[in-house]
Amino acid sequence: MQQPQAIIFDLDGVLTDTSEYHYRAWKHLADDEKIPFTREENDAHLRDVGRRESLEYLIRDRQYSEQQMQEMMGRKNRYYQQCIRSMTSADVAPGGRDLLQEIRQRGIKTAIASSSKNSLTVLEHLGLIPLFDGIADGWCVVNGKPAPDIFVYAAGMVGVHTPDCLGIEDAAAGVEAIKAAGMRAIGIGPRERFHGADAVLPELSNLRLAQLLDAR
Ligand code: BG6
Ligand code: MG
Repeated sequence: MQQPQAIIFDLDGVLTDTSEYHYRAWKHLADDEKIPFTREENDAHLRDVGRRESLEYLIRDRQYSEQQMQEMMGRKNRYYQQCIRSMTSADVAPGGRDLLQEIRQRGIKTAIASSSKNSLTVLEHLGLIPLFDGIADGWCVVNGKPAPDIFVYAAGMVGVHTPDCLGIEDAAAGVEAIKAAGMRAIGIGPRERFHGADAVLPELSNLRLAQLLDAR
């Protein structure tokens, strides 16, 4: 593609493997509540999905009060925060830091568009904050992915029109959000996970900018 003016990254499952920690935290909660929940369900239904929507998927038609749901979301978040506490710069996807540096050296803006309210903590642990021109997280918009809002917000943070942005995602809901924002979308993961993506790459590890731009 023509060189984008901004590349906007999802965080969890793209730049680092925190999607595994989200899964473990939901699994812990599901086990507490004796709700059956598998890794396959997580991959198919919870990747990139916000905290409340994830809980709603998990409990389905079981009856809980709003207060009980708030408590469960808080409990899942505590389990998640225990997982991320020991993260370090070694937890950045291999080559991820080099890729971000290369993008910036080419004069392309970098931004995060993540649904997670824990994004800043994760980015601090990874030591990546200085490599982003804009960070949009779960505190920034009301409508989560697949709504385009978080990607539009991130593009605004770096002052680039959405058609000039490239978005990178590991989840179907995220690719949908990127396309709804009018951006080119690259899915990271198995090809069958993504329908509307412009290109798919199996993983972000050790990618160079040219491979991102040439991806099909
Ligand atoms: C997304 C993750 O980035 O953020 C989801 O892919 C997670 O798994 C969502 O549910 C919300 O995260 P948090 O940290 O605000 O509960
Ligand atoms: Mg993700």
